[in-house]
Amino acid sequence: MDYFWLLLFPMHLDQKVSLKPFHTFGMEVQARYFVEPHTREEILTLLNYRSMIRMPFLILGCGSNILFTKNFNGLVIRINSKGIEYKEQDDGTVKVTAEAGENWDEFVQYCVAQGWAGLENLSLIPGTVGAAPVQDIGAYGVEVKDLVESVHFVEIDTGIERRFNREQCCFGYRDSIFKNSLKGKVIILDVTFHLHKALPGGISGTYSLKLDYGQIREELRLKNIGHPGMAEVREAVCSIRRRKLPDPVEIGNAGSFFKNPLVQNERKDHLLELYPMMPWYPEQKDKQQPGEDTENKGRVKVPAAWLIEQCGWKGYRDGDAGVHPHQSLVLVNYGNATGMQILDLMNRIISSVYSRFGITLEPEVNIL
Ligand code: EPU
Repeated sequence: MDYFWLLLFPMHLDQKVSLKPFHTFGMEVQARYFVEPHTREEILTLLNYRSMIRMPFLILGCGSNILFTKNFNGLVIRINSKGIEYKEQDDGTVKVTAEAGENWDEFVQYCVAQGWAGLENLSLIPGTVGAAPVQDIGAYGVEVKDLVESVHFVEIDTGIERRFNREQCCFGYRDSIFKNSLKGKVIILDVTFHLHKALPGGISGTYSLKLDYGQIREELRLKNIGHPGMAEVREAVCSIRRRKLPDPVEIGNAGSFFKNPLVQNERKDHLLELYPMMPWYPEQKDKQQPGEDTENKGRVKVPAAWLIEQCGWKGYRDGDAGVHPHQSLVLVNYGNATGMQILDLMNRIISSVYSRFGITLEPEVNIL
């Protein structure tokens, strides 16, 4: 015991803990100290000791969006608080609050089973409820911010609890206030979602299932489903993801490693002359962040996966570090890759995409 606070610490604390089971990339790295609060009360108790613990904190959910390049010389707090509460509204919608440590996909499954629509397109995304708003997880035409009512968190330094509504969270494409000014300063305790109830005559309110992402319609067509409900949409999304994305239990990865870059219209037009097959999507107006300048209106999104594939990286493997053969946006650890090897691969990809297209890719995962 090298610190006085360790003697006073009220919870079970492990030292020199392997983080391999606690993040999806599966690197063999260690945390100096590790604690796993199972309730929000335990999280708050822990913060009473903040002023004594003079070392960095790292808040971890399922560790599905992180790349460790070295051991963590501080205290890892793995949030494992569970619980779901809901309140039916007069207008046929429902407000559902889930504790931060709930597994994301189990939560989505629960909502679909209850007949609450909204989250089905976000099925099978690895992670926890508390991590979902941090990077505004999104898939198949839906972003979690579209369903978030509020986020309840506690400030690490003061222990003060706050609740932010959707606007205050400053959501953007894979972005939020929790990744910017509040990064490392708060712990999310629970998230409230505003969902729609399936009624005998259809889903409540103005809600309609989101089937416009091409692959969903195609999947439903293959399954001969003409009039899908939310369970069928969930099943379709799960099938697409299982086919395209590696299961972290089998192959270490952190989902999309890069963000899809925003490219100025002029550059897009220039690139289209050279590469007429290049896919691109307009940047949706409603995906803009509050206060974002008007320059952004002249930009489009180009799939990073396409850029990476064009540079010949798809299926590339160097030792145990590689680029997934079915989705070039996903970097993988085939077993014993180190974080530095993945980082080296990341840098090589970034520079080759830049040399060929003049576009700088940005990582989506947190690199530590
Ligand atoms: N493409 C390629 N090569 C590939 C894969 C895709 O050229 O290997 C091109 C195709 O033109 C395809 C386009 O990229 O039409 C888009 O591919 P996809 O639908 O797979 O989506 P994505 O843009 O690569 C994003 C999210 C994923 C999410 C999917 C589906 C980001 C960074 N990633 O990927 O999110 O599942 O859309 O909505 O926005 C994650 O964030 O971890 C994640 C998996």
